[in-house]
Amino acid sequence: MEVDVSNLAIVVTGAASGIGRATALAFAADGARVFAVDQNAAGLDETKASAGSGSIVTHVADLLDPANCAPIIDAAVAELGRLDALCNIAGVLRIEALEDVTPQTWDFIYGVNVRAPFFLSQAAMPHLLKSDGAIVNISSATAFRGYAYVTAYTSSKAAVAHMTKSLQAEVIKSGVRINAIAPGSVNTPMGTGGSGGAMDKFDMDLFMRMLQVRPGSPPESYTDIILYLASPQNQIIRGAVLNVDDGMDAT
Ligand SMILES: NC(=O)c1ccc[n+]([C@@H]2O[C@H](COP(=O)([O-])OP(=O)(O)OC[C@H]3O[C@@H](n4cnc5c(N)ncnc54)[C@H](O)[C@@H]3O)[C@@H](O)[C@H]2O)c1
Repeated sequence: MEVDVSNLAIVVTGAASGIGRATALAFAADGARVFAVDQNAAGLDETKASAGSGSIVTHVADLLDPANCAPIIDAAVAELGRLDALCNIAGVLRIEALEDVTPQTWDFIYGVNVRAPFFLSQAAMPHLLKSDGAIVNISSATAFRGYAYVTAYTSSKAAVAHMTKSLQAEVIKSGVRINAIAPGSVNTPMGTGGSGGAMDKFDMDLFMRMLQVRPGSPPESYTDIILYLASPQNQIIRGAVLNVDDGMDAT
């Protein structure tokens, strides 16, 4: 699959760690101009330092505040002059027993995982309509089955999957392509622990069902498919949620 992202203007959220960092670095290595967004300033600095001569501009912002979404896109377009793709990669996970989940936790997870990608997409759309650009969202293999202790997270990732399809439907007559990938277990700070609740409350048999049979994958495993979906070479995959989960959904 030939992919050319050189000189494309790309926004990547969650770029201070994990899949977001790997994605920002992969775009920059292939000649794209990356606007890297995260709330973690030190992590963004590390990403930029790892890019060498690759083009990465960092932007610190908290995606939990919806008022930040349009200004992020405005700043990216002011910096890059255009926008070819938005990669909504930032996300948060909490693992907690049902009785411990508060409305604040629920809003926190939905705020970062669902609301921010939606309002970033809303702000990005006029620019993407001009460039025949793309949006790549990150759902999860956990969105399609029941898993104990992560209802807020898994349902937020199911919402991302559905948002991907509905947004694509709304712009289906344009050149804009909107897709999501659904990873399995990824070796990132989130994938190797995340923020767990009181483990002593968990039925460990149920808890362990969340783990996939195969070992977790490095975040770099996902960058080829993300770059392809963001590139103009993809003209046939639209509104799709692709299982790239190393077999998690099959087992
Ligand atoms: N790790 C896994 O096993 C796994 C599996 C399936 C899907 N995913 C999804 O992949 C995406 C990336 O996760 P990861 O594993 O790389 O996790 P990670 O924890 O390594 O990275 C997440 C990044 O998002 C940023 N972020 C979180 N809240 C933010 C906020 N309010 N404002 C700005 N930035 C914020 C963090 O600072 C961090 O840099 C997430 O959407 C996650 O749900 C991860």
